[in-house]
Amino acid sequence: MGNTTISITPSRVLMKRDRMLYGQFIEHFHRQIYGGVYDPASPFADEDGLRTDVLEAMRRIQVPILRWPGGCFVSSYHWQKAVGPVRTPAFDKAWRVEDPNTFGTNEYVKMCRKIGCEPYICTNAGTGTAEEMSDWLEYCNLENEGEFARLRIAHGYPEPHRVKYWSIGNENYGWWEIGAKSAEEWGRLVLESAKMMKHVDPTAELSAAALSDIDWNVNLLKHCGLHLDWISIHKYWNLMPNVNDFATYEQSMAYTNDLDTDIRKVRGLLMAFGLEKRIRIAYDEWNLRGWHHPNVHTIRQGVTKDEYITPRDLNDRNQDYTMADAVFTACFLNTLNRNSDIVGMACFAPVVNTRGCIFTHRDGIVLRSTYHVFDLYVNYLGDEIPDSQAENMPVMDVRHKENRTERVDVLDILPTRRSTDGMLAVAAVNKHPSAAQKLTLRIPENGYREYRVITVNGESTEAYNDVGVNGVRLTEGEWRKRSEAPFEIDLPAHSVNVIQMR
Ligand code: AHR
Repeated sequence: MGNTTISITPSRVLMKRDRMLYGQFIEHFHRQIYGGVYDPASPFADEDGLRTDVLEAMRRIQVPILRWPGGCFVSSYHWQKAVGPVRTPAFDKAWRVEDPNTFGTNEYVKMCRKIGCEPYICTNAGTGTAEEMSDWLEYCNLENEGEFARLRIAHGYPEPHRVKYWSIGNENYGWWEIGAKSAEEWGRLVLESAKMMKHVDPTAELSAAALSDIDWNVNLLKHCGLHLDWISIHKYWNLMPNVNDFATYEQSMAYTNDLDTDIRKVRGLLMAFGLEKRIRIAYDEWNLRGWHHPNVHTIRQGVTKDEYITPRDLNDRNQDYTMADAVFTACFLNTLNRNSDIVGMACFAPVVNTRGCIFTHRDGIVLRSTYHVFDLYVNYLGDEIPDSQAENMPVMDVRHKENRTERVDVLDILPTRRSTDGMLAVAAVNKHPSAAQKLTLRIPENGYREYRVITVNGESTEAYNDVGVNGVRLTEGEWRKRSEAPFEIDLPAHSVNVIQMR
């Protein structure tokens, strides 16, 4: 068992994280909306057809912002078909299914108000136009001027929705995206869209789909840097679009050497343009596990439903979401907190079903392992990042899925401080699959005479939650007096812990 020391200086606060780091994403894909959070036939449905058990679970992890409606879906979506008394079913060309359009902008905003989160709308920059995007903003945010604000009022919403966060496009750099653009085309479209959207509502905060790729971002920032408030990047580490081929626990730990790569690249570009104080990073789609949807992001499309629709049900296998997902998710949330001077928002993709942290079934919901990590981070960690220094950090060699050896840190430690009362809360992740690790906390300042440990863990690396299976849970320890001796904590194997001190 290793013995690592972390020295913390609570009074030297380096940065304060935005609560929007714990955001979520929901897309019109498979059972996320229809049959997920929106299920009028469910016994759990409220008067708006929303699953009250899902809404309650989202309130418990204080979802701060919810990105919608896509994702690839949005790049051929026309918002006007899904507002008002008459809804036009549309063939969703992204995911090749009919969308009834019974869940649209007004249902989405109502859902956000019930959750208590900010709406964050991603617009169609695939087949859409600057005008269609800015018309959507008129519909949502103008009081009563012009056709679209009047339309919202006629639809029964006299007050503006006041949607503050908007993204221009989704992954329009990717060949798989409908209406994909070259870097030059992208810079021009984003500029014209941003201009029209800001002319509608100058208080709206705008993001645009970006990459860590130099050429794409140089063109985007050169054209639009002064018009944007955010720049959006996405990452899934264990990509499985065509083969539902899960990385093992060990292989998942190998990915933890690649958590801040894209943040560093984008940070460097923003600094090169002198924009790092003006534009923040929105990591608005991320998950260890890429979604499974075979024969769609391919040249040859699936023909029979069994080739491209039925396999989507494989995303719903709860036994696949284990402590690997929990430990990886905690490590990435630590990375976001450490970079919260430039990362202001992040959206776990998605929140409900597919690879999400909440799974719905006829008789209730399953809180997957990742849900408990969000519960732990949102409800037990602080909002400030104090200065700290680690010594004697153990490492371990793990096999990457691409069959190379990666040497990774065994521990991932994030000290935080709660600004309201100064309480210290140290996130301590032990990635080792079988060995506990000892952590010594050194705090030169007085006080902090009591502590408790809150842990998310299971019996093994393969523990998971399912209907009738509670393999992974959050356990809250009792408050204890700190002994005079060095303050040592044992971190169990494959565990995510928060050590609170007051
Ligand atoms: O696999 C799901 C897709 O991943 C999302 O729709 C898109 O934004 C990303 O490419």
